[in-house]
Amino acid sequence: MIEFPDVAKGVIRNHYDIITPFYRLFWGPHIHHGYWESDESSQRAQVQLTERLAKAASIAPASRVYDIGCGMGGSSVWLAKNLGCQVTGVTLSPVQRLYASSAASLRGVKPRPKFIRADAEAVALDQGSADVVWSIECTEHFFDKPAFFRKAAGWLKPQGRFALCAWLAGEPPLSAEQTELTRQVCRGMFCPSLGTASDYCKWFQEAGLTVTYQAIWTKQVQRTWEICLDRVERTRIRHLAKLFGANHVLFLDHFQAILDAYRTGAMEYGCFIAQRGSK
Ligand SMILES: C[S@@+](CC[C@H](N)C(=O)[O-])C[C@H]1O[C@@H](n2cnc3c(N)ncnc32)[C@H](O)[C@@H]1O
Repeated sequence: MIEFPDVAKGVIRNHYDIITPFYRLFWGPHIHHGYWESDESSQRAQVQLTERLAKAASIAPASRVYDIGCGMGGSSVWLAKNLGCQVTGVTLSPVQRLYASSAASLRGVKPRPKFIRADAEAVALDQGSADVVWSIECTEHFFDKPAFFRKAAGWLKPQGRFALCAWLAGEPPLSAEQTELTRQVCRGMFCPSLGTASDYCKWFQEAGLTVTYQAIWTKQVQRTWEICLDRVERTRIRHLAKLFGANHVLFLDHFQAILDAYRTGAMEYGCFIAQRGSK
């Protein structure tokens, strides 16, 4: 695991409160990487990542789902519309909660997802109540990842599944340059740590879950950052970000670092499905 303890939770919340409208304008309703099979649009690629994760998790229609770190509700709405899931989305950001609720309501999404503003590391959800805990690119922001996995395992019904996508630190040994690149990404993207694929497997197992599927999708997702870099270059978004504070410029200025980290193996992008036993 690569650690960067200088990140504060309030900074993460503020980042998403401010930057959410920009994500919506410049990327789309999902705040996650695209998954490219060939030369699809970035919006299509974002949906493909959602579809891939849902397929890997074999989510049954009408499942009860907790979408942890739900962003603008992109996954929650997709799961409700396409699989009839009863979804509760959890986000640290009050702006995202408001956006997600309003968008789902205006679009008449049924069954209507419910969105709550809470710190997923502290929130109390009903024990044994979820068929699926779903989380795309949120656990990177957590301070005590093993504790979160123990907590989330308790939310699952027997046989319930945890479906997760996450940015990963490359497996050791990393060179000094690779370690520094990963630390730069943690700094610019507000991640107190990045676990390796092995770390995630260990955290699932320690929480009593069995990893049933594991894949590295780095090659299929890294085009995200080529496109984002190009959009930053071609627009005035950096000037706009300056108006909102140094942290938002810091974020934009680390797009190259994450692309370099993927290209050099300092970081990877992983997908995991882990299942609770029958008790
Ligand atoms: C990269 S975005 C991913 C959003 C969404 N999963 C998607 O794929 O569109 C990270 C999300 O994690 C949320 N997040 C970060 N730390 C959190 C915490 N401690 N509790 C709840 N949500 C958190 C942010 O508010 C944001 O919605």
